[in-house]
Amino acid sequence: MTGSGVGSAPGKVILLGEHSVVFGQPAIAATIARRLEVRLAESAASAVGDAKLRAALEAAADGLPVDASSLSIEIRSDVPPACGLGSSAALSLALVRALGSLTGASLSKQEERSRASRVEDVFHGTASGLDVAASAADGVIWFERGAPPTIQALRPREPFDLVIALSSEPRSTAGPVGRLRERQKRRPELFDRMFGLAGDIVRAGREAIESGDLESLGASMDCAHGLLNGFGVSTPTLERMIAIARGAGALGAKLSGAGGGGAIVALGGERTSAVIAAFDAAGFEAFPTRVGAVDLALRQNVSLSDEGVRYEAPASSRGPAVERPR
Ligand code: MEV
Repeated sequence: MTGSGVGSAPGKVILLGEHSVVFGQPAIAATIARRLEVRLAESAASAVGDAKLRAALEAAADGLPVDASSLSIEIRSDVPPACGLGSSAALSLALVRALGSLTGASLSKQEERSRASRVEDVFHGTASGLDVAASAADGVIWFERGAPPTIQALRPREPFDLVIALSSEPRSTAGPVGRLRERQKRRPELFDRMFGLAGDIVRAGREAIESGDLESLGASMDCAHGLLNGFGVSTPTLERMIAIARGAGALGAKLSGAGGGGAIVALGGERTSAVIAAFDAAGFEAFPTRVGAVDLALRQNVSLSDEGVRYEAPASSRGPAVERPR
C-alpha cells in the first residue's frame, strides 16, 4: 500500500451501433482525445459525500485489500460529463486503475475492464460494456456484448477526423435505454428487425473504415441516425445539430451515445473546420477528434489481448499516426 493511487482513462465516441448493441448487435466506438483522472488517498475522515460515487468506489474496491470508506477522491476531467462521451465509463476505469495503483494489486487488463463494467452498472444499471471496452482500448474497436464480449481492434486504412458537438440538454443514459426497452417489448418483431438492420449498417461501416471509404462511412452514419430517430432517442435539438453538420458539408452525422440530448458526431472530412465553424456560429460547443489505428507500440498499460477477449492485432504494430489522449 502506498497510501495514494492515481489512474486515468479516456472518453469515447460511438461511431455506429449504440442501443442495438444492447440487443446483441455489433457496435464501433473510438477513444477521444479527452481524459479523466482519479486520485485516491487514504484519509482519516472519508471525503466521498456523493452516494453514487461512494457506491462506485465500493464496487471498484470489492475484494481488494483496501477499506473504500477510508479513501478520499479527487477527479480531474476534460471529458464533457453526461454527454454520451463515456465520462462514467472513464471514471469507472480510472477508479479501478487508481485502486490498482493504491493497493499494488496487479489486475490483468481483462480484470480491469470487467471490474470497471461492474462499476459502470452503478451509474447506468446494466450497460452493454461497450463504453468501458472503448475507453480501455485506446483506439477504435468493434464490440459485441457477450460473456466474454467480442472486442476487436479495428485498423482504419487512413486516420479520419470527426467533429463532436454538444447539445447541452440535461440527460441520462438510463432514460433513453429504458424507453427503448419498453418500445421493443411492445413491438418485438418490428424492433428486432430494426436492430438487425442497425447491425448491417455497422458491418457496412466497418468495411468502409477498413477500406478508407469515407463517403460510405458517412452514409452509414446517416442511415444509423435514421434508425436512432426511429428508436425515439433523438431530440429536436439533436436533429437541428445533425442538419447543421450536414449543411456545412459533413460526409455524415448522427447522434452518439444514448441520445435524449448529449452529443452528435459528424464525419468532417475536408470540411472539418467548416463544420466546427457552423456549430460555433449556432452557439454549440464543438471540437475535432482524430480516429486512427490502435498502435500497439504506443499503447501504454492498455491491452485487449487477455484471455477471454478475442483480439485481432493489426497486421503491423506500427499503424498510421494516432492522436493520443492527453
Ligand atoms: C451508451 O453510451 C450506449 C448505449 O448503447 C447503452 C449501452 O451500450 O449500454 C445506449
